[in-house]
Amino acid sequence: MTTSGTPSLSPVQHGGNLHNAIARYGIPRADWLDISTGISPFPWPVPIVPSDVWQRLPEQDGALEQAARQYYGTDALAVPGSQWAIQQLPALFSRRRGATRVWLPQECYEEYRYWWQFHGHVLQHYAALPTQEQLQERDIVIVLNPNNPSAHYHAVTELQALAQRLQPLDGFLILDEAFMDATPTQSLLPHINADTNVILLRSLGKFFGLAGIRTGFVCGNRKVQEELRRVLGPWAISHPAQWIAIQALQDESWQHAMRQLLPAQSQRLANLLARHFPADCISATPLFVTVSLTPESLTHWQDQLARHGIWTRCFMQWGKLRFGLADDAGLARLEQALERCAADE
Ligand SMILES: Cc1ncc(COP(=O)(O)O)c(C=O)c1O
Repeated sequence: MTTSGTPSLSPVQHGGNLHNAIARYGIPRADWLDISTGISPFPWPVPIVPSDVWQRLPEQDGALEQAARQYYGTDALAVPGSQWAIQQLPALFSRRRGATRVWLPQECYEEYRYWWQFHGHVLQHYAALPTQEQLQERDIVIVLNPNNPSAHYHAVTELQALAQRLQPLDGFLILDEAFMDATPTQSLLPHINADTNVILLRSLGKFFGLAGIRTGFVCGNRKVQEELRRVLGPWAISHPAQWIAIQALQDESWQHAMRQLLPAQSQRLANLLARHFPADCISATPLFVTVSLTPESLTHWQDQLARHGIWTRCFMQWGKLRFGLADDAGLARLEQALERCAADE
């Protein structure tokens, strides 16, 4: 028996909630440097959208999925943000199997915990990937690679071994690669096919900086893709979103430039933070840098930076402060604020 709509669950809080910071610190919106998300501040440059594109219903001509197949190197089901798949997969497994045991990283994008609990599944938190001895029939293991917010990467070989351990158990690996685009050699995509027991999620929100068009993709197991397609409906991704997504996925020279720029900008941010925090507390991906701190330092730094109009994301429950990337002017502003905060300590 599964139960949905567990009443004790409260909605998850996220970065990007600048309205809270505006209300709390009384600083006008235009004066903030918002680095509270992992969305790239160097988005794919969306051209002016022609008026006929605004007028059209979503096309069912397969053009978006063709562009996605080219980019990801495999079949990909287009969905309205990978968040949609995060919400739908627990419902899909409820229909297929009833309540299922689900392994979830101790620290990760909290929507996973919320939706698997919402659908009455049994959560098992892990610090290290579950071993052969720990896994049971029909287990599902969720892995975020890299993890948000810990910035931890798993090696491809580790994930291949995990999928293999799950295969004879009729288990699944759900792999969230929302932050993987800048480091494609670390993706599991080239190593999976349609019969795999891996369900792999990708997003146009982070590397492409296009979170607003709500477009993501589900790759991997074909039957899961087909089942999700049946609950997707015809109008899930707007025509303007499709129009933008196709061009962004095809723009290889922009993608190439971003694979140089984002790691460099992330390194600058990490170097800057290393002047104020111990190096072994800092972990980075090309799209964000996370600092592990004590609860007191966490509140202190988030508050002090906010007083200088810089909004970061604080994960109090895990002792982490996450910094999204900034352009050079933003980094200079952050540097100045960090120095002033350190002087005031
Ligand atoms: C790890 C991770 N996966 C998936 C998502 C959902 O992204 P989207 O729905 O924009 O594709 C997020 C959003 O922050 C995330 O952090």
